[in-house]
Amino acid sequence: MLIAGNWKLFKGPHEARAFAAQIRHLPERVSGVQVVVCPPFVSIEAAVRGLGQGSHVRVFSQNVHWELEGAFTGEVSAPMLIEVGATGAIVGHSERRQYFGETDETVRMRTETALEAGLSVIACVGETEAERKAEETEEVLERQVAAIPRHERLVIAYEPVWAIGTGMSATPEMAQDAHAFIKSLHPTRVLYGGSVKPDNAQVLLAQADVDGALVGGASLDALSFEAICLAAADVRA
Ligand code: PGA
Repeated sequence: MLIAGNWKLFKGPHEARAFAAQIRHLPERVSGVQVVVCPPFVSIEAAVRGLGQGSHVRVFSQNVHWELEGAFTGEVSAPMLIEVGATGAIVGHSERRQYFGETDETVRMRTETALEAGLSVIACVGETEAERKAEETEEVLERQVAAIPRHERLVIAYEPVWAIGTGMSATPEMAQDAHAFIKSLHPTRVLYGGSVKPDNAQVLLAQADVDGALVGGASLDALSFEAICLAAADVRA
């Protein structure tokens, strides 16, 4: 089971460091659960410092470029992330796809480079509300998953776009169906994302093919993030 907190555009270095210090011992209380936080680029190093030596919480970035260096203003490379202590990256989050022109092809390139550089990857897929209503969910997932390479350090996050930040999570059945479908295409661990909160985490995580969660809003508060990790540990037990 893997629980990853996606901080999005929240928590500068100061806050990241304090938060990390607060949760540094969390993995010891949630056996069988890997705990990951994904701060903004500029807060990665501060989070790593806040965790200090010996913490099992891992720090991932929210994106990574497909080239190692070059004339790519505004981008950050895998070796740079590794240098500041990140061990993985989110790739292809729906907010990147919606607002920043991310495509299946750029997701593929970013993922390949990140994996080659030694990072772990959480590759995100998920349909929009219009696509679900038009009964295109499987077609969309098929296309998005086809662009994601297979690798032991890669997990997929299924995040229906209509469930992200809306407070309206997928039902456990919807999540289970989508996860089973994704695994039929790409055998790997699949995390669920989209309005995961302390009060719905357990029932979502209890689904057979839900292997963890990618948590946005509810990961910003240490108590609520801890509660979700504890729910994951309960499901595992
Ligand atoms: P949310 O975000 O938990 O705030 O819905 C999830 C995500 O975008 O990863």
